[in-house]
Amino acid sequence: VPRPVCRVTFQPEGRSVFVLAGTTLVEAAGRAGIILNQPCGGEGTCGKCRVELLSDAPPPGDHDCRLLGMEQLDAGWRLACQLSVDRDLLVSVPWEARFFEQVILAEGADASYPFRPNVRKVVVRVPGPSVHDQRCDLDRLRGAVASRGLQVDLSVLRSLPSALRQGDGAVTVVLEGRKVQGVQPGDTTATLFGVAFDIGTTSLVGALVDLADPTAHGQATLQARTNPQVHFGDDVVSRIAYAQSHADGLQKLQSRLVACLNEMILDLCQERGVDPDAVHEITAVGNTTMSHVLLGIDPSPIAQAPYVAVVRDAVDVRAREVGLDVNPCANLHVLPNIAGFVGSDTVGFALAAGLLRSERVQLGIDIGTNGEAIIGNRHGLVACSCAAGPAFEGARIHHGMRASEGAVSKVVVNDDIEVGVIGGGRASGICGSGLIDAVAELLGAGLIDEMGRIADPGSVPSHVPLSLRRAVVEHDGQPAVVIVPAEASRTGEPILLTQRDVREAQLAKAAVQAGIEVLIRESGVCLEEISRVLVAGGFGNFIRRSCAKRIGLLPPVSGEKIEFVGNAAATGARMALVYGDSREEAHRISRCSTYVELAGRADFQQRFADALVFAKPDGS
Ligand code: FES
Repeated sequence: VPRPVCRVTFQPEGRSVFVLAGTTLVEAAGRAGIILNQPCGGEGTCGKCRVELLSDAPPPGDHDCRLLGMEQLDAGWRLACQLSVDRDLLVSVPWEARFFEQVILAEGADASYPFRPNVRKVVVRVPGPSVHDQRCDLDRLRGAVASRGLQVDLSVLRSLPSALRQGDGAVTVVLEGRKVQGVQPGDTTATLFGVAFDIGTTSLVGALVDLADPTAHGQATLQARTNPQVHFGDDVVSRIAYAQSHADGLQKLQSRLVACLNEMILDLCQERGVDPDAVHEITAVGNTTMSHVLLGIDPSPIAQAPYVAVVRDAVDVRAREVGLDVNPCANLHVLPNIAGFVGSDTVGFALAAGLLRSERVQLGIDIGTNGEAIIGNRHGLVACSCAAGPAFEGARIHHGMRASEGAVSKVVVNDDIEVGVIGGGRASGICGSGLIDAVAELLGAGLIDEMGRIADPGSVPSHVPLSLRRAVVEHDGQPAVVIVPAEASRTGEPILLTQRDVREAQLAKAAVQAGIEVLIRESGVCLEEISRVLVAGGFGNFIRRSCAKRIGLLPPVSGEKIEFVGNAAATGARMALVYGDSREEAHRISRCSTYVELAGRADFQQRFADALVFAKPDGS
């Protein structure tokens, strides 16, 4: 039966999305570009995602009743992570439930920054020339701005005479520090925008931010797209190989990326009713390869031992120089990198999480195809590249898929196998968190052993309930487990976890586990000293920490120390846009981070081999 479509409108933005009934409110908000705070990973235990329903609210669930008082429940407050949309809703999202604002407040709030974008506008009245005042146009402008050190380039000089002679002599000067970015006739101070990009290997996220209104707290309109470079390869190494093996390879990679960023800018501006010409600054984070490609810099050295970047520092260029269609004078600020395989996205993550502002030791992990981990405190950071490969993105998994509608994202094994499906409908595949859950739960049930072997259909241990035993089948001459039976799947085929899938999960988790272990050792801290483990990336939103710990993907710290922080890299890019002073911190993160190259290290190889074995439930 097709599920009805519901309209969900979020306030105060007034933004509406249409979702299928059964979608969680957190997902609906995400589609509307509103990222909710979910420190407990959506398990309904932290209460941080509470929102107010202004329309007829569905009845509260157990978690709502446990965490919200009677008064709040009556007033229509609900936990967004627990609410499955079943009707049209009007939702007010309070400031505290919003991820971006929370991150900035969460750690080192006392050291957080004032609203001070790198670009600003001032309106001045420049007197016209006369017989008594024969100063040139530029000197009269300098006098009006009351700054001697103003730096002005040729394009500004060219626009100066007409700007000064239009209207009544009032002009708006766009300033980037002491540099004049542009001079506009009249008072245009009310319109000043910036865009922050997170350029991932697989996805692109853009945020349009009003830089003229400090009271907006950096609130943004968001857009996400698939990186069009995926046609040239799944990971950064294959993109670099493409750039090397084709004469126009780099140029093609760059122009595809920039064309997509331009589409996003246009859509963001249209949604907000803003002229792209009002965008005066762009900030960007990405892995080192993506940053290089954006700037048109050959990334080849990153793929050749000893894997160094061409540039580590932040880069500022005219956005037009790389082909971005915004104000012709706008600045593009690409945040600094740490190493060839630890890019400005990790710097953005560390900036958003305040790693260098805290006395406490924190570990940040971004689990992805090109994942990274970073640990430390205000006295220094240590980082490594912790590549899991594409298994957790659903690649190389028999029924693997990305974490989108129809993906099994949760698996619970008791007497039977129960699954949670994104969007609430029938399942069409398994995403990364479903894979982690399935392996962890089947380990617990005894259907997978410590070596990662699925029990043979004929020799499943006798203590396993019959319904579970029936789930073990043969596939391509090897054992497999039916996670969703044919009659309950969208495709009409059973959704399987195959022996090869378990092997892929083992390889991926072993790479992350061994990387993190070496990193922690290298940083000189012990596990008990780690006060928080921050898990970033869209993937983290669906992981159950108990399962991730069970298979060894997350370190064995207590559950409440593990926090899911969403797209922290994008938050870092927005911070650099809104809080100009935070760029100095980004620079220090880049320079104070010691990079640990895992390739070729004997201790990493040893830990990797050990980590291929799943620990016993008691942790041994
Ligand atoms: S209660 Fe909803 S995210 Fe924690």
